[in-house]
Amino acid sequence: MVAATDPELFTIGVTFIVAAGIVAVIAYFAARRWDVNPQSKTPSTTNDDSSSESKEESKSNGTTSTTTTAKSKKKDKWQTDKVKDAQYDHPWLLTTLKGHTDRILDFDFASNGKTLVSCAEDRSLMLWNLKDFAEKEHKSTRGSVDLDHSRLVKFAPDSKSIILALAVTNKVGVYKLARREDGGNRVKFQPVDSVEFPEKHVRDIVSIGIACSGKFLMSASSDNTLVVYDLHGDILKTIETKLNTLHRASVSPCGRFIAASGFTPDVVVWEVSFDKGGTFKGANKAFELKGHTSGVYAFDFNQNSSRAVTASKDGSWKLFDTDIRYQQGEEAHEIMSGQWELLRSAHPESVFAAMAPSGDSFAIGANRHVRVYSAMKAVGDFEPLFDVHSEQLTSLKFSSCGRFFATAGDKYIRVFHNIPGYKSAIEALKEAIKAASSDAQKRRLMEQLEEEKAKFAAVLNENSK
Ligand SMILES: *[C@@H]1O[C@H](CO)[C@@H](O)[C@H](O)[C@H]1NC(C)=O
Ligand SMILES: *[C@@H]1O[C@H](CO)[C@@H](O)[C@H](O)[C@H]1NC(C)=O
Repeated sequence: MVAATDPELFTIGVTFIVAAGIVAVIAYFAARRWDVNPQSKTPSTTNDDSSSESKEESKSNGTTSTTTTAKSKKKDKWQTDKVKDAQYDHPWLLTTLKGHTDRILDFDFASNGKTLVSCAEDRSLMLWNLKDFAEKEHKSTRGSVDLDHSRLVKFAPDSKSIILALAVTNKVGVYKLARREDGGNRVKFQPVDSVEFPEKHVRDIVSIGIACSGKFLMSASSDNTLVVYDLHGDILKTIETKLNTLHRASVSPCGRFIAASGFTPDVVVWEVSFDKGGTFKGANKAFELKGHTSGVYAFDFNQNSSRAVTASKDGSWKLFDTDIRYQQGEEAHEIMSGQWELLRSAHPESVFAAMAPSGDSFAIGANRHVRVYSAMKAVGDFEPLFDVHSEQLTSLKFSSCGRFFATAGDKYIRVFHNIPGYKSAIEALKEAIKAASSDAQKRRLMEQLEEEKAKFAAVLNENSK
């Protein structure tokens, strides 16, 4: 009996193993495909990225071959190559945060400077303490939300609650951290009572934001809609952005503006206004960031919105002075610009721009690489940081103090010292000393300069160990 069924069992066993193997391989390739092209909620429309891109390509460049299909061109053009998970090191690297078991999709620094929150394809959210970033071990708490997970995460101004772009329902959610009685390091993110956001976008949400004033929230989608909500999730305004394909949107850190960029070369900035009683008045076009010759993939403002940086498909970045009287028709002036050829071939979703809160330094990310710049010409240029992650970037941000910047792209978050920021701060103080009008002022600035130099020396010393 046993002898008779054995071969049968063996056959069943082998069949099962082979079938499981095939499923695993299919799942692997499907997952990779989603990595590269995560925003395919609806099938391509005429506004689809690839068709728009190829249209533009043949318009602006007569020699471009038109025989390749948009799809295969997309692949070649956007070099979606990967390298093996490797040991990464860089003289500026402070630490690598390890804990997520799958690709990190987004992270954010709390404005109180104490914590960082991240979300990943493993459906978890993790909280990290900046305090132990300089240590070898990092304490973290892992959490999740019920029935969904998040693709984008932002701290609310209180640094205690977070807003999420929920992956399954494609809406915004506001959650607060709920401590568990049993201690342990798993936590639950509880939805905040009486807050319910509508499902407003027909394609995936690409950006979310909340004003530091706590007066409004924003979500934007590649379907070209930008929605402004009050804190309960009621819609204040829906803006049809006319960007053809919206790449990014944000609420400026000062909480006055919302802005969006896309296939068209200008970044559009709206002012969100409230009357004295706090009632929403409107979101009206304030100014634009102009000058690129192709779509803007990413942009960012500094803390008080006096500066903005953009990164474009045209292979260049631009730094703008946005401390302007736009009410009187004054336009944003370009202060600096530069070329980074990599921007031309990078996948739009892998391009990031981030500005230090002071505006003295900024970073551009493309594909798996990052470049950090000083906003002061006298400081000079810095070598790019190549292959920071084994997959394409998913986030790039400065800490709220501006001393660090961090990147995500695979299972890890890398945190770097903002060396260009230190050098810029020193240079700015030197220039201020030259321009000082009184001895007292000069002395004060010289003290500040010595402090800044000492901090910088400490960072260099620590990192050369
Ligand atoms: C077309 O683009 C390629 C690559 O960017 C460039 O090398 C070539 O000179 C361009 N040709 C024209 C006519 O602009
Ligand atoms: C904005 O912030 C920068 C750096 O902190 C400062 O130098 C500048 O004066 C500020 N501008 C305005 C308009 O407040």
